[in-house]
Amino acid sequence: MALVDMRDMLHHAYENSYAVGAFDLVSLDFLEAVIGAAERCRAPVILSIAEPHFAYYDFQLMLPAVEAAARRATVPVAIQLDHGSSVESAVEAIRLGCNGVMLDASDMALPDNIKATRAVVETAHACGIPVVGEVGYVAGEEGDGARQHPGQSAMTQPAEAKAYVERTGVDFLAVSIGTVQGRMKGRAKLDFQRLKQIRKVVHVPLVIHGGTGLNEDQFRRLTAMGIAKINYFTALSDVAAETMRQRMKSDRQGGFTDLKRGVKEAIGKEVERCLRLWGTAGRAAEVLAQCRPVTPVEKIVAYNIHGIDEEGASLLLRKAQEVISGIPGVREVFAGEAIAEGAGYRFCWSIRFATQIACETFRNHPAWLAFLQKFFDPVVGDFLSIDYRAFPGRVEPRESSGALRSDGAGSRGP
Ligand code: 13P
Repeated sequence: MALVDMRDMLHHAYENSYAVGAFDLVSLDFLEAVIGAAERCRAPVILSIAEPHFAYYDFQLMLPAVEAAARRATVPVAIQLDHGSSVESAVEAIRLGCNGVMLDASDMALPDNIKATRAVVETAHACGIPVVGEVGYVAGEEGDGARQHPGQSAMTQPAEAKAYVERTGVDFLAVSIGTVQGRMKGRAKLDFQRLKQIRKVVHVPLVIHGGTGLNEDQFRRLTAMGIAKINYFTALSDVAAETMRQRMKSDRQGGFTDLKRGVKEAIGKEVERCLRLWGTAGRAAEVLAQCRPVTPVEKIVAYNIHGIDEEGASLLLRKAQEVISGIPGVREVFAGEAIAEGAGYRFCWSIRFATQIACETFRNHPAWLAFLQKFFDPVVGDFLSIDYRAFPGRVEPRESSGALRSDGAGSRGP
């Protein structure tokens, strides 16, 4: 289980002057390439899912794969929602397995940005999940980056950054000091003096958006000056596309799988370059030792009911499912009926939470209390309710039988 607390992970980077890469993923090739590179370099890594990219893939399908990769990884991993737009998207991301969320209201006026960010912080913290906020605005110059982040950049003002962090309670702050989203025209001029002033008044780990196109010296100075997370995407997209363009030249008849041969390796090579440059390579063991694991918690409620018929019982189960699944921090609800006749308890709910804090918040959530009072208490007989946290420790995957192999050699089909 290599999913770790993103707060611990980024504080470790901040205190040791290196940066963790948050690589935006747009397909399984990206996911496998990023995890593979992090494992080769023994580096902690953030698997990042950006809301502006949801037009390109179904994030409800993507996130289970991302979570499975994180849990299987042998290096510490966190999963973040990048450029989230609302409380609702943060809640959905947490439900699907993100253990860090970003709210991007950086195009709003400062008071509105503070208000919107504060709302996400309240909800996410009640689920035990940290938040990245942004003050100042990082625009794109061309291509996808410009379409998704239009307009002019606005540099982060140190006094505004201080007020924003104090009033919102964000855990990490993204700053605008001269980077651009997406491909860059010419060379970025970074305002290191501004970064120094921000760092003097803001005491949370800092984040850079628009990592693509910066040079080695700029990266080194950024990590030495409090940048603990670097968001990175366009360079990966560009190496993937260039690999396919080259392949098309030499293989004009190739199918999709032929044309994307080499893409994963090209992305992985670029990720590896970054991890070595940002000081992340070789940090996995100390981060694993020092960061709390993300431990899911499960509430099991087993109960009997009286005074209602079968239809009433089924309505109660459906109502419970509807209320419980709408509460932030709940990841999954199972409502069931005992298979064995005469079981001690005929019905159960099992509720999976993102964290222990989410479970504690749930207990006093107004929607849950109202449900208990109105629907459950009048009909419940014997019941038991116990909260369990996942057993600590990593369960090693069993040796593969080779029947299903990712290189296709074990399968019978073409
Ligand atoms: P680049 O695409 O410029 O690397 O930036 C990515 C980013 O900031 C995602 O949040």
